[in-house]
Amino acid sequence: MQNLIIGSDHAGFSLKEFLKNYLMDKGYNVNDIGTFSNDSCDYPDIANKLAENLNENPNQIGILICGTGLGMSMAINRYKNIRGALLYSPEEAKLAKEHNNANVAILGAKAFSNKENLDFLNAFLTAQFSNEERHLRRIAKIS
Ligand code: RB5
Repeated sequence: MQNLIIGSDHAGFSLKEFLKNYLMDKGYNVNDIGTFSNDSCDYPDIANKLAENLNENPNQIGILICGTGLGMSMAINRYKNIRGALLYSPEEAKLAKEHNNANVAILGAKAFSNKENLDFLNAFLTAQFSNEERHLRRIAKIS
């Protein structure tokens, strides 16, 4: 099973707990880096923590959640080896892995229901990178 690392700010806390329980039930290894309550916190602190952890342990898929998903997207994509994808439909979530080889899934807890976000995440986690030359070339150009 894949190793997952998950983090959220306060706006994403409830969705993080929901997803974490689901994923652990499914047998994924889930490393929860916080936040651990509804108390207000700053999303870049969580994104930075996840990036540092992912750099040390690249054999993980990241999941980041805030209210819109936008702040987490901006913060995490400042890191060179990270390709964070904001998920907004099952089809695009699948393509984020197949074409872009995204290694961090980003969700907006206020933008979609828990069920919708779960469907996006499942589509992402069960997809595989195509490994096709054109996609490898394009990803290399991002770096
Ligand atoms: C927190 O209020 C909110 O700004 C944050 O969760 C996120 O949506 C930022 O992009």
